[in-house]
Amino acid sequence: MKENKVDLLIGAQWGDEGKGKVVDAMGADVDVFVRYQGGANAGHTVIANGQKVVFHLLPSGMLYPGKLCILGNGLVLDPEQFLNETAELYEKGQDRARLVVSPHAHVVMPYHKVLDRAQEAARGKGRRIGTTGRGIGPCYVDKYARVGLRVEDLLDADLLRERLVPLMEEKNRLLTRLYNEKPIPFDEVYGPAREWGKALAPYVGDVVRLLREAVDEGRHVLLEGAQAVLLDIDHGTYPYVTSSSTSAAGAFTGTGLAPRDLTRVIAVVKAYTTRVGEGPMPTKEPGEIGERLRNAGGEFGATTGRPRRCGWLDMVGLQYSMALNGVDVVALTKLDVLSGMPEVKVCTGYEYNGRRLEGFPASPHILDEVVPIYETLPGWRGDISGCTSFDSLPREARGYVEYIEKGLGVPVKLIGVGQERSQTIDRGL
Ligand code: GDP
Ligand code: IMO
Ligand code: MG
Repeated sequence: MKENKVDLLIGAQWGDEGKGKVVDAMGADVDVFVRYQGGANAGHTVIANGQKVVFHLLPSGMLYPGKLCILGNGLVLDPEQFLNETAELYEKGQDRARLVVSPHAHVVMPYHKVLDRAQEAARGKGRRIGTTGRGIGPCYVDKYARVGLRVEDLLDADLLRERLVPLMEEKNRLLTRLYNEKPIPFDEVYGPAREWGKALAPYVGDVVRLLREAVDEGRHVLLEGAQAVLLDIDHGTYPYVTSSSTSAAGAFTGTGLAPRDLTRVIAVVKAYTTRVGEGPMPTKEPGEIGERLRNAGGEFGATTGRPRRCGWLDMVGLQYSMALNGVDVVALTKLDVLSGMPEVKVCTGYEYNGRRLEGFPASPHILDEVVPIYETLPGWRGDISGCTSFDSLPREARGYVEYIEKGLGVPVKLIGVGQERSQTIDRGL
């Protein structure tokens, strides 16, 4: 048996760290790309050779022809989005990467999206989560209530009807009686669902077996996390989280791989912090600094277009993330965005009611009220987006990277200095 080469890549903050770009930058050396949790709430941007693609559901390795791309059982699959995304990619003349979908992935149905939006509206101001409206929460609710439809259920017309009739009766009662929405006619769901089943059928395959073979043959597998650790359903800033296990553990339930298969955990860390949607963010900078980061970093949601809240790097959240996931290496993105800042701040602790807290607080209410304790580092001038080696970065930028390595106790093995695949400093990732 050959030596394993299974990398797990996760976002370490509140999402949009640049996971898509890092997956793509690593891609030439990867044999199998896997998505294993979340759904079309993700927006992973890849810019390669001047071409920009935003992946919502498909792995960011889809631009590499001939490779194997897998959607695991832990994902919630929106068939409409899946078919649009594949069609769009293939229209661009993309050679077909081999794409295989687990029959056990749950299906995001039209009523999930209507419910997602209706539930958000009903929560009212102050209680909203600020979801992407992609039906993620309601779909995972059905999964755990053991009433959800899985990809395999779309493949059999009779079984689908049998399952869908009582399900839709229940969803329509919910929609009309609780949320004052119009009922969704059965045929408007069943008809398209039959078509989705036919279109998905050629992609359905034995993901568990394919992955086992790949691992045993020593092929390089890259598991691409969506969202990020602080949005994890168990470990994140609940209830302001997404509905899946975004931390390392989710990769096992979401694929059928075993913990011992894993060789490395790579955490993607943005050189500052952003958050989109509701929920606490201690280092947010509502003023000029936040505005500057938003403009320089293009911090608008890749899925919803919403402006992201921006602020300084939060080492407290990151230390929590590193410990929780057994992170081996960090990929640090968007260092170029900080260029030109006269000074760069890093949050090294939280103060609450006049006392310094130990660790990352469990309560979102406390997190919302903590006062960040900052350390100030010197900024750097000049454009670093053309730098190709660590040594060619300005001294202060190198100092910032080394400060992060020391604070996290994890080496930074890749540095992003621009959006393009080529704007990456590889330090042996
Ligand atoms: P993801 O969800 O983690 O894949 O991240 P998004 O794609 O939602 O957001 C990251 C944004 O930053 C995208 O627009 C990327 O093109 C961009 N990006 C990624 N890495 C870098 C970098 O090193 N420098 C700059 N300037 N932009 C980057
Ligand atoms: P990528 O993979 C940033 C946020 C939403 C909301 C919360 C719940 O691109 O990093 P959901 O629709 O999942 O029920 O929304 O999670 N959220 C993200 N924020 N990046 C993402 O994905 C996100 N996916 C969901 O804004 O606060
Ligand atoms: Mg994103």
